[in-house]
Amino acid sequence: MSEQIKKEIKQRYGKIALSGNSDCCCMPGECKSGDSPIDATKLIGYDQKDLESIPQESILGVGCGAPLNHADLKEGEIVVDLGSGAGIDIFLAAKKVSGSGKAIGIDMTDQMLEKARANALKGNYSNVEFKKGDIEKNIPLDNNTVDAVISNCVINLTTNKTSAFREVYRILKHGGRMVISDLITDAEILQEQISSDQWCACIDGAMTKENYILCMEQAGFERIQVLEERTYMEGEKVGGRKIVSLVIKAEKRSI
Ligand SMILES: C[S@@+](CC[C@H](N)C(=O)[O-])C[C@H]1O[C@@H](n2cnc3c(N)ncnc32)[C@H](O)[C@@H]1O
Repeated sequence: MSEQIKKEIKQRYGKIALSGNSDCCCMPGECKSGDSPIDATKLIGYDQKDLESIPQESILGVGCGAPLNHADLKEGEIVVDLGSGAGIDIFLAAKKVSGSGKAIGIDMTDQMLEKARANALKGNYSNVEFKKGDIEKNIPLDNNTVDAVISNCVINLTTNKTSAFREVYRILKHGGRMVISDLITDAEILQEQISSDQWCACIDGAMTKENYILCMEQAGFERIQVLEERTYMEGEKVGGRKIVSLVIKAEKRSI
């Protein structure tokens, strides 16, 4: 089941990388169909000037919030983006950590990695890197080496959220932080009702807030704070379930 879902995630996001656009845009109700990926991205909290400053092909309109607004990145820090797509948050983060810091994107979809690397070349970024990896199995980074981890609309796609959070905990330095934008729901779908298509569209893999936080706690995270919470889709569009976009921050224990 989980391997089949992963295969379909790679197919879906591989196609989005190649076409440069997605039909799973942000908040219906605010975001009209036909909105460009840039319009969709502004609606979820990004700044127009910031978006103008990065390679335009990195903006796919597939996020659900703006985790960097809360990551408080500083010059010299090492930041990792889980499920970095075409690189939008990596290019924005690269400026914040500047030349002495580094922004590292992790993704498992080859076409996304190729697109992100091409964008990095186009933008002449010297402090970014994109690595291939499955974030819930093995993030290709050493233990205790990262200051901050961000992610935008990716953890809901994983089939074992606790495993993904354990991997984040492992790579973070003591006292390091994680800021995640993601989708949650008021009622999780029953196993037998899961549609792989809806999972890949970031819906059927969504957990309740309580279970999501529990997965973070099981991985060892502390000081868990919900920073933003807003309704994302109308109930009838997702089988009566309410889908909410969340920005959540947590820390690894300091020594
Ligand atoms: C909804 S898109 C978000 C992309 C990017 N964060 C953005 O906001 O534009 C999800 C991305 O996560 C990647 N992804 C999904 N599950 C993953 C996993 N288990 N490990 C690594 N990457 C994953 C997909 O390949 C895709 O690029």
